[in-house]
Amino acid sequence: MLYKMRGILVLLALVAAASSMENFSGQQVLRIFPTDEDQVNLVRALEDLEHLQIDFWTSPSRVLLPIDIRVPFRNLQSVKVYLESNNIQYSIMIHDIQSLLNEEQNDMRRNRATENTRSTDSFNYAAYHTFDEINAFIDNLVRENPNLVSKIQIGSSYEGRPLNVLKFSTGPNRPAFWIDTGIHSREWVTQASGVWFAKKIVTDYGKDASLTNTLNKIDILLEIVTNPDGFVYTHTSNRMWRKTRSPNSGSRCIGTDPNRNWDAGFGGPGSSSNACTETYRGRAAHSEPEVKAIVDFVKSHGNIKGFVSIHSYSQMLLFPYGYTSARAPNHDELNAVSRDAVNALASLYGTAYTYGSIITTIYQASGGTIDWTYDQGIKHSYTFELRDTGRYGFALPANQIIPTAEETWLALTKLIEHTRDNPY
Ligand SMILES: *[C@@H]1O[C@H](CO)[C@@H](O)[C@H](O)[C@H]1NC(C)=O
Ligand SMILES: [Zn+2]
Repeated sequence: MLYKMRGILVLLALVAAASSMENFSGQQVLRIFPTDEDQVNLVRALEDLEHLQIDFWTSPSRVLLPIDIRVPFRNLQSVKVYLESNNIQYSIMIHDIQSLLNEEQNDMRRNRATENTRSTDSFNYAAYHTFDEINAFIDNLVRENPNLVSKIQIGSSYEGRPLNVLKFSTGPNRPAFWIDTGIHSREWVTQASGVWFAKKIVTDYGKDASLTNTLNKIDILLEIVTNPDGFVYTHTSNRMWRKTRSPNSGSRCIGTDPNRNWDAGFGGPGSSSNACTETYRGRAAHSEPEVKAIVDFVKSHGNIKGFVSIHSYSQMLLFPYGYTSARAPNHDELNAVSRDAVNALASLYGTAYTYGSIITTIYQASGGTIDWTYDQGIKHSYTFELRDTGRYGFALPANQIIPTAEETWLALTKLIEHTRDNPY
């Protein structure tokens, strides 16, 4: 009887959990191919038609990159008619986003039933994990490697979750190289790659000559879940959540884009003042505690020489600037190192990346992370857009986590080594 009761309660809990999740059934992702700036502007205009509830997976861009949009089922017809009547080419990239998410859920459920999360050796790096599971991983890693790894809490999220940074260090007062993943919460392959990087570092230290040399000279700092409120929300309520979860006064829309919230051209083009858009910049620079915590940490540390902020998707390696068309003073260096890094990345599985400054390679974007770090004097500042180029977008299957992390690590190693050897 007790057993049966418990079964029913578990079943009820599962039904409740399932029904509180946003259902994307029938929703499609369209890939739009604008051929001139007029067409880009016609697509951009869709962003302000809030009733259409279009989710821009990639932003309209002057360089005429394809624009990927997720469209609710009931608005698909009107959006397609709009595009066709304006002679704008598009294709259907994902026919039913919910079917991809159902597979993702099944994978996670299957993994959870078998995974032993008590040590980082039995952790399944080929699976997506929750915030609690990643925090357990972090604590295990620190416990297993007390002389190499420590956990620093640099602040708390809006909803009060810890902002944890892993510090890999073999000596005091070293220059540091920063890596963050997951500042946009739905970019799940980034947090998953961050977990893999952490394990890779402790595995290679003392075995791999280059990494050992690196950690004998500089520290590596790694924030895996940089937007924890958003990340928890992607697991409990809406898999497609990108922003923070702080409320906006005078609006029913929640959240700020933490990659438009930095004091670097804050409020300029390529960010939105509309709280209901995905690129809402927030009421003021550094209004988001998740951003402010990094700002305060970087300033008080004072010796961070390299900074990488990791996003997905599009397969790009980018460097400043995004808010201005001014060339970064060491543009040629950033460009040459990026070329090395993407070549190293491609050497493993042939994954092709483009690279260049943000404004010339994708679009003008103001208030972004690495423009701020660059203007703070961190001359080795980069941002990645990991796999893929849109076949799955943010719903990248879990069997691509390890290959993505492995190839990205090769590029990261180039950036870290260059910073180590040129620590100005
Ligand atoms: C989502 O909606 C579809 C169609 O309305 C329905 O068949 C499906 O059961 C729903 N899925 C969940 C998990 O609620
Ligand atoms: Zn992103």
